[in-house]
Amino acid sequence: MDMYGIIQKKRDGGTLSDGEIRYFVDAYTAGAIPDYQAAALLMAMFFNELSRGEIFALTQAMRDSGDRIDLSSIKGIKVDKHSTGGVGDKTTFIAAPLAAACGVPVAKMSGRGLGFTGGTIDKMESIPGMRTGLGTDEFVRLVKTGSIAVTGQTGRVAPADKKIYALRDVTATVDILGLIASSVMSKKLSSGSDALVLDVKCGSGAFMETVADAEKLGRMMADIGEAAGMETVALVTDMQQPLGHAVGNSIEVIEAIETLKGRGPEDITELSLELCAYMLLLGGKASSRDEGLDKAASALKSGAGLAKFRSFVAGQGGDPRAIDDYGLFPQAAFAEEIKAAAGGYVTGLAARGIGNASREAGAGRAAKDDIIDLAAGVQLRKKIGDPVEPGAALAVVYGNDEMKVKGAAAAVGRAFSIGPEKPQARRLVHAAICGKGRP
Ligand code: URA
Repeated sequence: MDMYGIIQKKRDGGTLSDGEIRYFVDAYTAGAIPDYQAAALLMAMFFNELSRGEIFALTQAMRDSGDRIDLSSIKGIKVDKHSTGGVGDKTTFIAAPLAAACGVPVAKMSGRGLGFTGGTIDKMESIPGMRTGLGTDEFVRLVKTGSIAVTGQTGRVAPADKKIYALRDVTATVDILGLIASSVMSKKLSSGSDALVLDVKCGSGAFMETVADAEKLGRMMADIGEAAGMETVALVTDMQQPLGHAVGNSIEVIEAIETLKGRGPEDITELSLELCAYMLLLGGKASSRDEGLDKAASALKSGAGLAKFRSFVAGQGGDPRAIDDYGLFPQAAFAEEIKAAAGGYVTGLAARGIGNASREAGAGRAAKDDIIDLAAGVQLRKKIGDPVEPGAALAVVYGNDEMKVKGAAAAVGRAFSIGPEKPQARRLVHAAICGKGRP
């Protein structure tokens, strides 16, 4: 096949065949197509929307480029949970142990931070001793014995996506609906679970800014899952401002633990319960979303979710004493408070701005191999709709590099908008997109 002809066809608005897509994926992964030709094709995909058939073919080709994890020896319906990437999103640490405590096996593969969004694996590594690079045998054994394990994705899962994503990242071709859908689903279909709950973020701190675009992405991913035999529900949830009050690594895990102790922020608690409810529904442990919600809330109230989190930490080598003594988490040497210049209400809190500020403080990477400061991050004292007095604390930035902390503090200040009128509250869950046969 001829790569020049494939680029030309897509550039001119044509629809690529399954064979052409598979050729591109296989040959690029094998190093037989240069980056400049692959980049040209990706940009043609930006200007000429991918068809449903092209997206399905891309997903399958990327899935087939690597290993598929075999979880068939684990009894029960294995349910995965995945977020398209948000700021302050620590719901995995709450929804997954709650679901496991209610009897759903959770075998989750997660990634590291991307751009301004944090990654579950980086956050997990702030728990002293926690291992995030489990081999498949240990991963499966932990799910069999404790119903939950979370590990970093190995390079052998969907390697084509890894290579194509790295190119997209530097060629302004990340935010293309068909490419996001196929990238996420190729990895999820390789990970061996039977069902999937997706959290598709929308708003200023997400790839999809509007509810309509996020719904379109959620529908596409649910369709891909269904076609491949993985029942998928996609929740479209708000990312206009960060979730909860903590943005970073260790401070996010601590906030998740506080939530499991019943003392978490309202938005984190609500979203985690909602995600868990759908995990229970797909996992056959609830017959409706409402029943799932009741069971999830009971597991939170009884402390069963916290107990499951404790055994999950211990199972992966983490120090469970950190759950009761937050002083065992990495600590920051510097803290800088951001104060309100004027009084009124918080009318805006740009999630992307806070995500970037947290990264600037050291909590995220500017380049792939950067070392993260696990103690760095932003603790929000005010969120949208909160009243503020002049001089009141809006947020505190933490970190171990004083210059970075000061730079990040200025960026946090710019992410806040304060006005005289209390803004209308936005919904947290905009839509739930279920496959056929589910209400
Ligand atoms: N997350 C992914 O895994 N892939 C994308 O393309 C975007 C977000």
